Amino acid sequence: MKIRTIDDLDVRGKYVLLRDDFNVQIVDGKITDAFRIEQSMATINALRDAGARIAIVAHLGRPKGARNMEYSLAPVAEYMGVPLVADALDKNFMANMRDGDVVLLENVRFYPGEESNDLEFARALAAGFDLFVNDAFAVSHRAHASTVGVTDFLPSYAGKLLASEIEQLNAVMANPAHPFVAIVAGSKISTKIGVLRALARIADKLIIGGALGTTFNYALGANVGNSLYEADQTDTALEILKYGRENNCEILVPLDKGVATKFVRDAVRTDKTFDEIQPNDIILDAGALTTARDIDVIKSAKTVIWNGTVGMAEWSPVWSAGSFAIARAIAEQTRNGKLKSIVGGGDTVAALEACGVKDDISYVSTGGGAFLEYIEGRALPGIVALSDK
Ligand code: 3PG
Repeated sequence: MKIRTIDDLDVRGKYVLLRDDFNVQIVDGKITDAFRIEQSMATINALRDAGARIAIVAHLGRPKGARNMEYSLAPVAEYMGVPLVADALDKNFMANMRDGDVVLLENVRFYPGEESNDLEFARALAAGFDLFVNDAFAVSHRAHASTVGVTDFLPSYAGKLLASEIEQLNAVMANPAHPFVAIVAGSKISTKIGVLRALARIADKLIIGGALGTTFNYALGANVGNSLYEADQTDTALEILKYGRENNCEILVPLDKGVATKFVRDAVRTDKTFDEIQPNDIILDAGALTTARDIDVIKSAKTVIWNGTVGMAEWSPVWSAGSFAIARAIAEQTRNGKLKSIVGGGDTVAALEACGVKDDISYVSTGGGAFLEYIEGRALPGIVALSDK
């Protein structure tokens, strides 16, 4: 699939509707992780330098079509130092724009027509613009008005970030150096079945961790105490294990866990094998044996893809031990030129950031759900809409 990009496009004086993914974490009105915004700057700066008049359209959270100011993009506008247009459909701001100006439109999910990809809403959003640029890889798996609908009304192109995500992910998926190790963790098997199957087809080893791993342990008959897992996904877990065997992919489930008897960040940690886990134990991290095994596997790899933390990494050093050890091992191998590493997903990128190794990773994707769907090989509607039909 060939997509149109902004390279060689003459945008001087043109009104550009630019879709970015600014779905960032905001605590007490302050952005705590600006990675997605920073990654979007290459396109914004290129369009600005080329003299475009840019209105950025973006979403924050899931306000479900209502104007809920808890989800206002005001902190993002403040961070970027650009004006916020309170009503994304009010075009009055256009008359005052000069070449190179940038504004941010208020959360597009304040309108019910966004998520339903309503044709009239898309038409109203596109009105007055000369062209559309989608640089929001992270939301390209959603067929919404601001990712797909507007492409019916405007000549549409991929921004630099979107193009680079596609290029990087295509390169690793098409021709990974072996041994190829995938690490998939997080909470729900139901959201990761597709990617687990896709990775089992091409990876040599697939490490499964987090609550996802607990579901696999439970399916294999292990004690999991009072932990988070999906009891109704036992058949799915067993089917994925069988699929791995059929595809010569060794699927590695947790060997032990860091547990506590309370689901609180200052809980006392004990590492237990599954034989030792009691009914009131709650699994909150990978255990030391599992982490040591995972590090060995990472050290044997030439390619690693990682999505999902293996414990409550955001809580405290006690519970981030498993995830940070994985992050550091991947970073070290990459730094030493032994590994190509690809990491995606909000929590996972936050873990890289927290242990200061993000810059060592070969490629860090801005996508969460989009990253998983792309790796799975699904056609993302926001990207399909940019291809020559
Ligand atoms: C994300 O954060 O992964 C994207 O912005 C998509 O958000 P959504 O899952 O709310 O559609």
